[in-house]
Amino acid sequence: MMVKLVVMSKEIVVSGIRPTGDLHLGNYFGAMKNFISMQETHNCYFFIADYHSLTTHPTPADLHGNVRRVLANYLAAGIDPEKATLYLQSDIPQTAELYLFLNMNAYLGELSRCTSFKEKARQQPNNINAGLLTYPTLMAADIIIHKAKKVPVGKDQEQHLEMTRQFANRFNRMFDVAYFPEPQAFNFGSELVKIPGLDGSGKMGKSEGEGNAVFFSDEPEAIRKKVMKAVTDAGPTELNSVKPVYVENLFSLLKAVSQPDVVKKFDDDFNNCNIRYGDLKKQLAQDIIEFTEPMRERIKSIIGDDAYIRKVLEMGREKALASASQTIQEVREIIGFKQF
Ligand code: TRP
Repeated sequence: MMVKLVVMSKEIVVSGIRPTGDLHLGNYFGAMKNFISMQETHNCYFFIADYHSLTTHPTPADLHGNVRRVLANYLAAGIDPEKATLYLQSDIPQTAELYLFLNMNAYLGELSRCTSFKEKARQQPNNINAGLLTYPTLMAADIIIHKAKKVPVGKDQEQHLEMTRQFANRFNRMFDVAYFPEPQAFNFGSELVKIPGLDGSGKMGKSEGEGNAVFFSDEPEAIRKKVMKAVTDAGPTELNSVKPVYVENLFSLLKAVSQPDVVKKFDDDFNNCNIRYGDLKKQLAQDIIEFTEPMRERIKSIIGDDAYIRKVLEMGREKALASASQTIQEVREIIGFKQF
């Protein structure tokens, strides 16, 4: 009897993680949950973008510390190094080689028109280096080195992805090959919840100020302090009022971490003009503390476990290297480097 083996190859996903600080609730509900579901269904390459981070000239000690913290956070959050390929960008120099090739066909005009470049140039006028200018070619190399089709990133990366498609297509056209696929942005949209910050304005992020974001690594006392400082007012004076944005934000946070009956209780209180924001914030702080507790403990145990971190990185390096070295070998052939 003939047995037909059908090998289903999973779609390839790449995403880069900036090694800048710890994970907060906003990252978790925004990107992290996406990564965790995707590692079940896709062939995922997640890497820590340490080459990219050199544009701001970190010291070696900063770099070590940041990479270690980010790794501990992502592992604690549920990235499974057995399922996904979790690696350090700088462990795969093939990425740097592809970046060099792509740079030969990336033009000053398009690079300098890139929004993120213009923004960075404004923010750091004394350090407008070539790495900043060519950030999009490095990001393109990150993605196409694994011939990824899907890239789980937010709206702010859309232009970089558009440039990636441009560079990939340009390569294909130039050498008349259908080699690199066109990567697209991707997320499990409906499951993503936008988490507002505690300062009553926009979304949760660390650039908005220390108190605006709750980090998984924050100790309970720090969480309580941040939450209790959130802006409120004297409360509604009319039944069933529309919630002001800063109050709506507290409810969004509550919905993310608390039980539905808790949310309902405060919602009813608000509608009946009986709400006590002090109580709401105490409850919210407590629920955030409980929600983040298991991760806080895991971060603590992973961050000091050199042997485990080394093992994870070695595993990731091996898997990423297999894919990247095959691509770079093929690219070298296509370009015309002679292989002896
Ligand atoms: N530019 C991304 C950010 O700022 C990080 C990143 C670098 C990335 N290389 C990537 C994301 C490749 C996705 C794919 O968040």
